Amino acid sequence: MSKILVTGGAGFIGSTLVDRLIKEGNEVVIIDDLSSGKKEYVNPAAKLYKIDICSPKVARIFQKEKFQFVYHLAAQIDVRKSVEDPVFDNKINVLGGLNIIENSYRHQIKKIIMASTGGAIYGEAEEIPTTENYPTFPLSPYGIHKLTLEKYLNYYYHVYGLNFTVLRFANVYGPRQFKGGEAGVIAIFVENGVKEKESLQFGDGLQTRDFVYVDDVVDGLYAAMNIDCRGEINIGSGVESTLLEVRENIEKALGEKIKIKEKPKKLGEQRRSCLSYQRAKDVLNWEPKINLEEGIKRTVAWTKSLKK
Ligand SMILES: NC(=O)c1ccc[n+]([C@@H]2O[C@H](COP(=O)([O-])OP(=O)(O)OC[C@H]3O[C@@H](n4cnc5c(N)ncnc54)[C@H](O)[C@@H]3O)[C@@H](O)[C@H]2O)c1
Repeated sequence: MSKILVTGGAGFIGSTLVDRLIKEGNEVVIIDDLSSGKKEYVNPAAKLYKIDICSPKVARIFQKEKFQFVYHLAAQIDVRKSVEDPVFDNKINVLGGLNIIENSYRHQIKKIIMASTGGAIYGEAEEIPTTENYPTFPLSPYGIHKLTLEKYLNYYYHVYGLNFTVLRFANVYGPRQFKGGEAGVIAIFVENGVKEKESLQFGDGLQTRDFVYVDDVVDGLYAAMNIDCRGEINIGSGVESTLLEVRENIEKALGEKIKIKEKPKKLGEQRRSCLSYQRAKDVLNWEPKINLEEGIKRTVAWTKSLKK
């Protein structure tokens, strides 16, 4: 049993991770300001501190709780918001993250695991599926700031010996996803579909993404805790799926057509995105288990259960 801090533990991926860590017998403390996370997602066996990761109070929590491991998932996750307000994104995703890293070092935790992004860090990659060695060319402040925090972790490891792993997620989806997120297309289409509301589709629907189910991502996060591995590891399905395929799978799960309004392509929108998970397989012994059809089926069932 370990004592573990999860920042962002009230959010979509964080709360699913917290449930898993508790199920495996660990003691979990959460730092989350509930800006997009929800109290109802917080496992009752976890202790929640409702504060900002930028706050100086973070040091007191580290001092008091004495963590062995830290998962850093708290973030401003909206790419469009990062474009509108890069200074705010920098404050949370760089300075807030640095506050967590600095305290992890000062309080001598065993390892920090950070949630980064594959979708927003490689840009319009020519190598598909994209490996971790591909040049990073983030096309948004969000991607730049995630990359900056990765570099800080690398620095703290080389200068101070702080052990770390960075997981670069593809487009994560599943129950509890916040609709305003980085890759909320499945959450948006499913919720609108269940409520029989119209969804907007930008472009021809042939743009591709790598959709990875939240339970698979949590398996990757969990594996990273006890395996000695540093550097960056992609966590994706390795499958390129078009938006039209997403629509078809939602319609199959719902048993009816969803209402779609087609709009022109968004300026600067990435055409293709797909991550190679070979390194995760080699290092973490991790492979995705849930395909898009099954993952969407589960997401639809969960969304329907909320309606009752
Ligand atoms: N969802 C994806 O497809 C995806 C893809 C790549 C990377 N990620 C990363 O995974 C992590 C989790 O994302 P998610 O999809 O679960 O999003 P989420 O919005 O559900 O979770 C983020 C959590 O952080 C909290 N938070 C935000 N700002 C905070 C602050 N200043 N102080 C304290 N708490 C704060 C929110 O309340 C929320 O609970 C993030 O770091 C995100 O960048 C997500």
